[in-house]
Amino acid sequence: MSALRRILKMLRPHSAWVVAAALAMAGVAIATVFMVFLIGPIFDTVLGAQLPIPGLVAPAGAAAGAHSRVAVEQLGFAKDLKAWFEGAKDSLRRFLPSDAIAILLLGFLSVLAKNVFTYFGHYAIYHAGLATIKDLRDRLMDRLLAQSAVYYQKQPSAVLMSRITNDVERITEVISDRLSDLVQDSFTVVGMVALVLSLNFRLAVAVLIGAPIFLWPIATFARKLRHRSHQSQERLGEMNSVVDEVLKGYRVVQAFGMEAFEAARFRESTRRHFRANLKARKVLALNAPVIEVIGAAGIMGLLLYAHRLISSGTMSTGAFASFLLGLYSLYTPIKRLTKVNMALQGAVAAGERVFAVIDEPVEVKDRPGAHALAGVSQGITFEGVSFAYEPDKPVLRGLDLVVPAGRALALVGASGAGKSTVAQLLPRFWDVQDGRIAIDGTDIRDLTLVSLRGSIGLVTQETVLFNTTVAANIAYGQSTVDPERLRACARAAFAEEFILEFPEGFDTVIGEAGTRLSGGQRQRIAVARALYKDPPILVLDEATSALDAEAEGIVQRAIENLMKGRTALIIAHRLATVRNADSIAVMEEGRVVEQGTHAELLARGGGYARLANLQGITE
Ligand SMILES: Nc1ncnc2c1ncn2[C@@H]1O[C@H](COP(=O)(O)OP(=O)(O)OP(=O)(O)O)[C@@H](O)[C@H]1O
Ligand SMILES: [Mg+2]
Repeated sequence: MSALRRILKMLRPHSAWVVAAALAMAGVAIATVFMVFLIGPIFDTVLGAQLPIPGLVAPAGAAAGAHSRVAVEQLGFAKDLKAWFEGAKDSLRRFLPSDAIAILLLGFLSVLAKNVFTYFGHYAIYHAGLATIKDLRDRLMDRLLAQSAVYYQKQPSAVLMSRITNDVERITEVISDRLSDLVQDSFTVVGMVALVLSLNFRLAVAVLIGAPIFLWPIATFARKLRHRSHQSQERLGEMNSVVDEVLKGYRVVQAFGMEAFEAARFRESTRRHFRANLKARKVLALNAPVIEVIGAAGIMGLLLYAHRLISSGTMSTGAFASFLLGLYSLYTPIKRLTKVNMALQGAVAAGERVFAVIDEPVEVKDRPGAHALAGVSQGITFEGVSFAYEPDKPVLRGLDLVVPAGRALALVGASGAGKSTVAQLLPRFWDVQDGRIAIDGTDIRDLTLVSLRGSIGLVTQETVLFNTTVAANIAYGQSTVDPERLRACARAAFAEEFILEFPEGFDTVIGEAGTRLSGGQRQRIAVARALYKDPPILVLDEATSALDAEAEGIVQRAIENLMKGRTALIIAHRLATVRNADSIAVMEEGRVVEQGTHAELLARGGGYARLANLQGITE
């Protein structure tokens, strides 16, 4: 389905507004046509261009009849309008002293009606268009929130940002502005063409066929002008690059005595720019005069014909005036209509990009029949887990790991061994490619994502804080905020003290991405957040490695509070921070190569002992 069709389909829930807009726009077109038609009576009756012949028509005060001398060559539509106009005028005439005033009042009323309709038409189409755009943005965001790391890995966030802002904006422009132009202009064109045709069929046909001949030079000029100014821009670019080279390389120019050469080169480029520029200006200078002269020839021809019509009594001056105005008011709508297609193409391209995001399948999702995780009673197991971010570049190769319930397992190893990858796989930011991860014997892919992720507290090196209050950041994702619990968690995370020093305490807004906090403070807020969430499973990935020794000491104590009674996976570079863990697993190239307590591993004299040695830990 084409993007345009889908965009239009999204308008459906707001179709009442679309219909209202179309009706209002039809009203605008009718009022506009009527206004143009009224120019006739205004000329003839109000301004007295069509002087009544004495004796034939009663003086001011009598009803219609001023035009009766004119054997009007008018067709149905104009006749209908005229009948309607006469009726309306006569009704008004009963309360008003003269025809002239009745006509002017009608004129004013039709302008008023046109503008009231214009307002409602615009309001309605904007309502429909903007509501559709809101729906589109919401759907985009829903899809983005459903996507996993697999997707974000492929899509730079700047691109996604641009989809949700720029691309959607371009669609907005088209569906609220261009589409309303399209509808409005089509109505106006139809009404206006009907009017001019019915005012004087032959003349209208002649003009409508002849107009392109007059418009052709305009189009030609525009094309030439674009071409010429493009060339002139290019020459300007060439000239600038010479200037740039000389300014940057003046030492070299002078050292080699090339001044004369560069001067000549520059003169050549200014000469070419002068030529190109002059040509562009020539077209520009010719444009208006030529159009005016050609236009004048057309108008004079038209006036000559009109003169014959009017003097032979076939048409009134006023009818001719409204004929001319009708033709003139066709110009803008037709010009806009010819451009609608271009704008639509832009929106279609933007729409295709937006829908590509919406249509992107979600890779990590609930399996049918997935059930909720209630807690951890036995433990977490990684069974022969293999994983690669990119094909042929394995990161985990048959990793086996057991974290018994309520215990802490530390994961250590050289940089790039795959520790963080293990941490990312547990909440299913990615799915394993081979083997499985199980909680109490159930594959995590058979658990609902909500319950799985809801059971895991993740504290990493980069703490993501939102631009809201401290309280909202700590209770992030929780439906209720209990002030008592908030304080208790902050206290356990050693964060209460500094939070209370803020001017508004827990209600202090942290600032964009928590800029008002130090690294250690941010980390402690993150620990407090995990405490507040109170998950049975805890994953700490280098939670303290960005901190200095003093801050690390405090955060470490906060983390110890956090770990109590939970099943924890702790990743750390610095062995000092994990030596007290129940068990330590050493990773190398995506596998666990040894496991045991600190003392056991040291005694073993393997990879762990080597790492410990490097970090100056000997016991
Ligand atoms: N998003 C990713 N896309 C592609 N490759 C990745 C991605 N994340 C990590 N890798 C690669 O996977 C391997 C393991 O990375 P991982 O982050 O798991 O290592 P680590 O053990 O946590 O290292 P460190 O101690 O430096 O944090 C590395 O070779 C890394 O380059
Ligand atoms: Mg890491």
